[in-house]
Amino acid sequence: MKIALASDHGGIHLKKEIAEVLNELGLEYQDFGCDCEGSVDYPDYALPVAKKVAAGEFDRGILICGTGIGMSIAANKVKGIRCALVHDTFSAKATREHNDTNMLSMGERVIGPGLAREIAKIWLSTDFEGGRHENRIGKISTYESTY
Ligand code: RB5
Repeated sequence: MKIALASDHGGIHLKKEIAEVLNELGLEYQDFGCDCEGSVDYPDYALPVAKKVAAGEFDRGILICGTGIGMSIAANKVKGIRCALVHDTFSAKATREHNDTNMLSMGERVIGPGLAREIAKIWLSTDFEGGRHENRIGKISTYESTY
């Protein structure tokens, strides 16, 4: 599984923790920035990564900002992206099983590194359940293609 990773200035420390998790799991990843403490705009990082995931260049994407909110809003504007803002382990599992999310967003100012690492591990290792959930995701895809 190939992962695209990015953060804004509010998420660089947590992003390093997540990169460590990816290394520990032996997963290939690419960090698309930012790598500075100075203020940047989160859509400039969320949108390119989301486009790469939607295009199939990467299997999944993980985004970090201060709250995770801005990154998730931006990523979900890209057709084919289902990005979940997650700050608990129950949702990390459920959003893979039920929503087949291809992107994960977290907030460095919201949760600590220990919980974020657990969330990432669960999200990366949980399979989509399919079945009735397939139909629900299909309705979102149909909406995306229609409007
Ligand atoms: C940056 O200050 C902050 O607004 C950003 O990291 C994020 O929380 C936006 O949703």
